[in-house]
Amino acid sequence: PFDWYAEMREEQPVRYDQNRQCWDVFRYEDVDRILDDPETFSSNPRLASAIDLPPEAEQSPILETMLTADGERHGRLRGVVEDWFRPRAITQRAERFEDIAADLLEDAIDGGRMDLIDDFAYPFPVIVIAELLGVPSEDRPQFRGWSETLVETPTDTSEAALEAFRQRQEQASEELAEYFEAKLEDRARDSKDDLISVIAEAAGEERLSHEEALGFCMLLLVAGNITTTNLIGNAMRCLTAHPAAMERVRTGEAPIESTIEEVLRYRSPVQALARIATRDVELQGMSIEEGDTVVPWLGSANRDPAVFDAPDQFRVDRAPNPHFGFGRGTHYCLGAPLARMEARIGLNALFERTADVRPGGERLQPVRSAFIYGVQELPIEFRP
Ligand code: HEM
Repeated sequence: PFDWYAEMREEQPVRYDQNRQCWDVFRYEDVDRILDDPETFSSNPRLASAIDLPPEAEQSPILETMLTADGERHGRLRGVVEDWFRPRAITQRAERFEDIAADLLEDAIDGGRMDLIDDFAYPFPVIVIAELLGVPSEDRPQFRGWSETLVETPTDTSEAALEAFRQRQEQASEELAEYFEAKLEDRARDSKDDLISVIAEAAGEERLSHEEALGFCMLLLVAGNITTTNLIGNAMRCLTAHPAAMERVRTGEAPIESTIEEVLRYRSPVQALARIATRDVELQGMSIEEGDTVVPWLGSANRDPAVFDAPDQFRVDRAPNPHFGFGRGTHYCLGAPLARMEARIGLNALFERTADVRPGGERLQPVRSAFIYGVQELPIEFRP
């Protein structure tokens, strides 16, 4: 998409797309403006005039999360788990995460060839979040199905295909709700040291409604899952494409931390967000009306030459690097410290056990989603 972004930043930095019925926004300064003004640009899809949510969606727990909440309600929801995700709380668990990575790689590494996604980048963050939530990580094949369905966006826009797509999403959402319903009941009776217990307790004290508690579990499972898989996958794609950079990172000459930030900028796992205008507003001379959907393209802002030197170059020691990979403002990714740590631990674990890592296949299939950026499989070859 990167050539397209460059063209749009120059020629139509803010434009209306009739097909998708939304405004696309491509420049850094405008994306910043939108994310910085949540009163004008709401996260609540119910305010959109172009989207007719089916009546049953009114009840859907997945629409009852902090991700789609504004203002005070957003603060109340986010506050329930905020402490759990602070860097200090997350760092305490580093050793356990290192063990998980080591176990996965032990199975995957011999033979000199693996599918980085299936063998490592997918299971690793899922096991981590399953443990934090307090659900058995053996259930992860189900999590994958549900998560992939929920982040999918339709490619075939015929009536029949859209209807089938809607049914698939609804079913995934219902199954997930049912799954977590039982877990919440269990923790309400018998509290443990996990996130589901924190959520069950807040629900018990009526700080969360039943639907909000369910939505919470679903959001935490889905948000931290495919995104982190793609961060690890995209990192390996960047590094195998730049062997000299890989060598500098592997030897510690370039920091792993700034490398991960550069991957978040250069191949952002989340390429676009959505907001709804709550009043008429102008952007680059275009008149956006109340109820219009606005799509800030993070992936384009992250390549804007007005902010980044040589934006199309992958530089592992780029500084400063004020990218939007985790968004910005009140909805800034809650899981950012966790995702950064998982990427660091995951990549280091790989470096420790492999040498000469190189791509093991061509023609990579992109993830089936318009706003998630990554590949479905990533064969790599290496010396164990
Ligand atoms: C929000 C990206 C990992 C939980 C966001 C947003 C972005 C993002 C761009 C902003 C959404 C918006 O403004 O509308 C990513 C990326 C990740 C990642 C690229 C991995 C590389 C995680 C993890 C978790 C998580 C591991 C937790 C388990 C959340 C939550 C929100 C969020 C709960 C909503 C925050 C709010 O609305 O206040 N993420 N995320 N994310 N992320 Fe992440």
